[in-house]
Amino acid sequence: MIRLFSLFLTLSCFSILTAMSAPGDRHIAIETRRTALVIRVDKDQNPTIVHLGQRLTRPDEYARIPGNSKRGEDYTGLYNSVYTPAGSRNLLEPAIQVTHADGNPSLDLRYVRHESKSAGDGVVLTTVYLKDPQYPFDVTLYYKTYQDDDVIEQWSTIRHTEKKNVTLHKYASANLYIPAQNYYLTHFHGDWAREMNPSEVPLTEGLKVLDTKLGTRADLFQPPSFLVALNQPAQEDQGEVLAGTLAWSGNYQIAFEVDPLHNLRLMAGINPYASAYTLAPGKEFTTPAFLFTYSATGKGTASRSLHRWARKFRIPQGQGNRLTLLNNWEATYFDFNEEKLTALFKDGRKLGVDLFLLDDGWFGNKYPRNDDRAGLGDWQENVKKLPHGLGYLVNQAESTGIKFGIWLEPEMVSPKSELYEKHPDWVLKLPNRQEYYFRNQLVLDLSNPKVQDFVYGIVDDMMTKNPTLGYIKWDCNAVIYNAFSATNPNPSHLYVEYVQGLYTVLDRLRVKYPKLPMMLCSGGGGRVDYGALRYFTEFWPSDNTDGLERIFIQWNYSNFFPAIATCNHVTDWGKQPIKFRTDVAMMGKLGYDIVVSKLDEKELQFSQEALKTYERVKEVIWQGDLYRLASPYSGDVASLMYVSEARDRAIWFTYLTSSRYRAGSQAPIRLKGLDPAKNYTIRELNVYPGTKSFINDTSTTFSGNYLMTVGFNPNADANRTSVVLEVTEAK
Ligand code: DGJ
Repeated sequence: MIRLFSLFLTLSCFSILTAMSAPGDRHIAIETRRTALVIRVDKDQNPTIVHLGQRLTRPDEYARIPGNSKRGEDYTGLYNSVYTPAGSRNLLEPAIQVTHADGNPSLDLRYVRHESKSAGDGVVLTTVYLKDPQYPFDVTLYYKTYQDDDVIEQWSTIRHTEKKNVTLHKYASANLYIPAQNYYLTHFHGDWAREMNPSEVPLTEGLKVLDTKLGTRADLFQPPSFLVALNQPAQEDQGEVLAGTLAWSGNYQIAFEVDPLHNLRLMAGINPYASAYTLAPGKEFTTPAFLFTYSATGKGTASRSLHRWARKFRIPQGQGNRLTLLNNWEATYFDFNEEKLTALFKDGRKLGVDLFLLDDGWFGNKYPRNDDRAGLGDWQENVKKLPHGLGYLVNQAESTGIKFGIWLEPEMVSPKSELYEKHPDWVLKLPNRQEYYFRNQLVLDLSNPKVQDFVYGIVDDMMTKNPTLGYIKWDCNAVIYNAFSATNPNPSHLYVEYVQGLYTVLDRLRVKYPKLPMMLCSGGGGRVDYGALRYFTEFWPSDNTDGLERIFIQWNYSNFFPAIATCNHVTDWGKQPIKFRTDVAMMGKLGYDIVVSKLDEKELQFSQEALKTYERVKEVIWQGDLYRLASPYSGDVASLMYVSEARDRAIWFTYLTSSRYRAGSQAPIRLKGLDPAKNYTIRELNVYPGTKSFINDTSTTFSGNYLMTVGFNPNADANRTSVVLEVTEAK
């Protein structure tokens, strides 16, 4: 809901440097159900942020909020600018920096007008128009508010009608301002198979920057998702937390600056690194969106808001179905043929999955893809391995009773490939330099429309020839080394136009194939962001599928991404029993990457039953609200539960994460999210064949009040390393 009002307070004086609201100031309140972002526009049309936090019940009181939180002097009037322009009076990190057509390196941005309108059911779009008083240069700020989910999506467009080109040096998506006593940033970092390690650090005066310059596979070291807790370190159910994430699959920069007034400034957007953008007169540049949610009740609420928003508004079929699958990557690597594969289809059927996913290694003839050194780009079936082609495999799988899906890495090229031989100018590489390879491969130049057509054609041809193909795993294993395009007239547009080119291809594919399930993979979790997740039904969090490691990885992704989109496969990584690995994989979209024929009788029986159980309970895991109960970082166990919207069903997972003597869930764990007035029964799921559970007495009921006040001990310990419980309303 948006409210604009002018206020006439009894203030005697006003200047641009004064923090208080003054007569004639206007306030633009950008609100969701619980949150408000309030912009103040003064008499000189300077737009500043005066509030980001809980929505006030009396909107007229936004005018009482002191600007800059009244801590002292702002020498510029810009510390809390809605979009800090560089070059004139700014002293801090800008949101935008430009050089005008006449060489003037400064920008001033004043409020022109704003409007708000409905952008769908429960969605409001507020648009704030700003312009430079001296130059025909405009910035428009967009704030899309998702009312029920408390999520704000923010981006900007930049346009001018100067006589010649303008250079954009920096062009952020969002600029926020948050006053508090202290700030604790949780950011995530890692590498291949070590994704999403959290670090919580206090922010002190000055800048802290999260960024990537990797181009593709951009999140390999650091994803564009973070938490900022105000006043105290982030807690699960208490305290103020802002969860933010940039919807962009390329280079990004998120800068946190504690200013001289000890307020937090935040600038998030495309990384200005090597990305000066030449904007022609009359053209518009649109930044990617920055998404955030503010919670006054800890990071648990923030996660649930993002999950609900993502399922409803972002991820394709976020409220729909997903297919369980058997993947052959770890079962065969590159070593397979038709016979082996058709046997695996039967294994998949026996196991009880919906789909078989053929991974890397099925293509290339002149340079067969028998290892990771050749063949990328030559997307024709290898005639030795697959003499009857993909159509035959699709039919074979379907006649076995499961669907067939396939792995692709369409953005990449092997130096040993026919594609490279035919189109060397389609490859990102530098003149006069040796080629550097990441996983023995190079990146195609997606800023080139011809390359975009080629990449689109890979999927389109495949779908045209095999219309019942049921799934695509879209991989991306290399970062951008040798960042140079032979055909792009603006070399410094490459990083930006690569991602735009990728999105153009994906847009076209989604128009033609709106329902095709697609997995976003990037050598593990090198590309997990809500820019790409506009197109993909699910993502691959990590190649690390060790059950224990995976608890931590999934735990951290769960801050931002919902279970329905999180692909978890049971594999042979790790030393844990299959029950443990299956229980862990069930906390999301379940799949397998094992040799089914090597399972012993009990393991197979367990897996078959687990898949049936999953079919019965998946709706609660996928669409329910996630409550993290016990963190693996602070005790012997990790515990979390998904609760249905009606609060009549919950699936509760607990794992032993410590190997110390007598480690375990020593005491009851308090549940969350239930209805205190309802009564529930508790029953154990995924009980291993030949063992008995003591939690199977469905005649005993517990009130939600009891379970959330006293709790229940799932008795996870060295003998019961993972426990899955179903909590059901007793009617
Ligand atoms: C990296 C992916 O993360 C793996 O799952 C697998 O598909 C390999 N690439 C294949 O090369």
